[in-house]
Amino acid sequence: MARRKLIAGNWKMNKNVDEAKALAKELINNVKGVETHDIMIAPTFVCLSEVANIIKGTNISLGAQNMHFEDSGAYTGEVSADMLLSIGVEYVILGHSERRTIFGETDEIINKKIKKAIEKGLIPVFCIGETLEEREAGKADDVVNNQTTKGLAGISEADASKVVIAYEPIWAIGTGKTATPEDADSIHNIIRNTLKSLYSDAFASNMKILYGGSMNENNADELLNKENIDGGLIGGAALVVDKFARIINYVKK
Ligand code: 13P
Repeated sequence: MARRKLIAGNWKMNKNVDEAKALAKELINNVKGVETHDIMIAPTFVCLSEVANIIKGTNISLGAQNMHFEDSGAYTGEVSADMLLSIGVEYVILGHSERRTIFGETDEIINKKIKKAIEKGLIPVFCIGETLEEREAGKADDVVNNQTTKGLAGISEADASKVVIAYEPIWAIGTGKTATPEDADSIHNIIRNTLKSLYSDAFASNMKILYGGSMNENNADELLNKENIDGGLIGGAALVVDKFARIINYVKK
């Protein structure tokens, strides 16, 4: 079953407006011919509008790094789905481990955000992943299955089919340590089995599951050629145009 790959750059809290515009412009030139898979970049909120203007009409889509689950109101510092839609955002990263661990987002909050994003027509990039401690205790499978189940709680199969999952083992993020392609592929398969039991075989085999965590220009080919890895969510390497473009132009085997 051929799932269309998505290569996404999470810029995190990096790049001011001028730098973000420059990076987006360079990226366009480096990935012009790519048609076989999708590309997304997620700059900070303050850069979204400007980057939206630059990538409009290209093969690069715009993503946000977070969103609130309410429509509007007294939520100082927050941004709503409608605000993102109004400037051309298509994807929203939700439940990133940095949101979970540094900003205290729970599975319940993430579930509300996923529901709101789907209701509004944004594509949620729903992040899951275990800590090193959990992995060493042999709990990685349980942790990701639990996060998957709670994040998708109360969401119908039709709605959940709009979600993209990103498996990002926390110990691999920004550390230079990557899950081996075999390990990543196997945990993606485990996630797919959980999706099968939550929904159906067809649903599970259609779900796009990205890998994130120190993906770079050197390891991308191996990771992206694995059967169950449907793309990447890239942090550090997405900030350097040559590296990100090399990942996007990965060599198919
Ligand atoms: P790095 O690619 O820097 O490890 O970050 C991964 C990530 O957290 C993407 O969301």
